[in-house]
Amino acid sequence: MLVNAKEMLLKAREEGYAVGQFNINNLEWTKAIIETAQENNSPVILGVSEGAGKYMGGFKTVVGMVNGMLEELNITVPVAIHLDHGSFEGAKSAMQAGFSSVMFDGSHYQIDENITKTLDIIEIANENNISVEAEVGSIGGEEDGVVGAGEVADPNECKKIADLGVSMLAAGIGNIHGKYPENWTGLNFDVLKQIQDITSGMPLVLHGGTGIPNDMVTESISLGVSKINVNTECQIVFTEATRIYFEEGKDKVGKGFDPRKVLAPGYQAIKDVVKEKMELFGSINKA
Ligand code: 13P
Repeated sequence: MLVNAKEMLLKAREEGYAVGQFNINNLEWTKAIIETAQENNSPVILGVSEGAGKYMGGFKTVVGMVNGMLEELNITVPVAIHLDHGSFEGAKSAMQAGFSSVMFDGSHYQIDENITKTLDIIEIANENNISVEAEVGSIGGEEDGVVGAGEVADPNECKKIADLGVSMLAAGIGNIHGKYPENWTGLNFDVLKQIQDITSGMPLVLHGGTGIPNDMVTESISLGVSKINVNTECQIVFTEATRIYFEEGKDKVGKGFDPRKVLAPGYQAIKDVVKEKMELFGSINKA
């Protein structure tokens, strides 16, 4: 069932678990995630970056594919299609195409411009029953080309953006996308707690879910994180499983060249990661 993400995240916030946002890249990815959500009776958010949207043939193609699957695979758990790190124009066109949720990432603008643009997006979203994620936080320190801290948001700026009427707020607390560098100092729970206190009840979003140790994930959920984004980890396991298929020469056996056979191990690898994350985030049986 295609829904906006607001209700599922408020429920998660109240009941102390997080809903996973898993980014999609193609049909196999989408099917793996949706089916795993249904099998585990878990709500789920499909993340679509602007680049991935283009890659899949455009936002409307994505919406058509997801809606078709929800109907034909008899999916009854709540599913949201969410634009990940949308630009101002990107967020508007995703809403037009039928996305049920968008992130407008204005974190690189000055706070006043971030506020004005976020307000414009909220206005369109409200007219169309679409949830909105906003982001606050600037990129942290870098040394010898290695990012050491990630983003740390100013709690007061978080409050300003939260008060605009967004459905969820992404706040940098030392998290970064992709693999974490060896000298990563971990998540900043002091700032997370301040953000939680000042935004009272707002579902918070943790980006960069790949590679965050499990105990830190659990602690952030206890401090108000209700949505956790995972992308790179699915890409790594998909590619690894596909590589093994070729290394074992399976493409040379019988009809092993059939793309449906080639993509099957990667599809299963994504399913396994998604299930593991749903267990960790506590979203199983919360649909
Ligand atoms: P990872 O790629 O680090 O899992 O982060 C995903 C993300 O935050 C998407 O917005």
